[in-house]
Amino acid sequence: MKINVHYSNQHLDELYFTGKTTVVIDILRASTVIVTALANGAKEVIPVSTVDFAMKVSGNAFSGQTLLCGERNTKKIEGFVLGNSPLEFSHEVVNGKSIIHYTTNGSKAVVKAKFSENLFVACFHNLPAVAKHLVELNKDVEILCAGSNGNFNLEDTVCAGKLVSEILFLKEDAEIGDAGRAAMILLKTLGKNLLKMMKETEHGKLLIENGFSADLKVCSEYGITNIIPYFISGALKKLDVPGIHSETIASKDGEKS
Ligand code: MLT
Repeated sequence: MKINVHYSNQHLDELYFTGKTTVVIDILRASTVIVTALANGAKEVIPVSTVDFAMKVSGNAFSGQTLLCGERNTKKIEGFVLGNSPLEFSHEVVNGKSIIHYTTNGSKAVVKAKFSENLFVACFHNLPAVAKHLVELNKDVEILCAGSNGNFNLEDTVCAGKLVSEILFLKEDAEIGDAGRAAMILLKTLGKNLLKMMKETEHGKLLIENGFSADLKVCSEYGITNIIPYFISGALKKLDVPGIHSETIASKDGEKS
């Protein structure tokens, strides 16, 4: 089992992923939102790479059952129902709904990796469950950090380092490429306090500046669900694996679904 980490998808084209097993990470905040939405009962999350396409998909979809969600420069897009704060994706709001999801980096990374044989989404919430499932699959893995506008970012790389270390804990002979080893070194330095690490990143600071500091706390919660989003027929759905139980995530008002 060989693990390759990519700090962004800039240098890769869609065909690179053909037949691969890929895990997309966009900790602040797209991958956290996807996991939260599915944990709180959303039927599916449909990732899109342009706002125009998001509008088109929502126009074609059965009205009332879809929610147009996402952000531009961290803020809700005009005409969209929700932005990209995990706190907006409560059970009350998303249960039974198809979420059409456009974000600056995260949704685009999922779309880029769409030809993967297996495509999963990870954040800190579901990291131990994803690691366990990958070890059970026992295939080579591409960990794709969404990064920031085509570049490396610290928060996704630290999360990738944590996923690599969880895999190694379960399978000590897994082969780790140089980028994955570097991610683990960063994890060692910055991973003791995930919230503090995220507050000090460029995107973390921008989110705080724009009024989303509560999101950082949510995004730093570790191992709180076994939900694994899995890409199939154009949408991310809950992976149905025996032994993986769907747990719930608290919503804004502290309710559990
Ligand atoms: C992204 O895809 O870049 C994000 O998730 C941005 C954000 O929500 O702030």
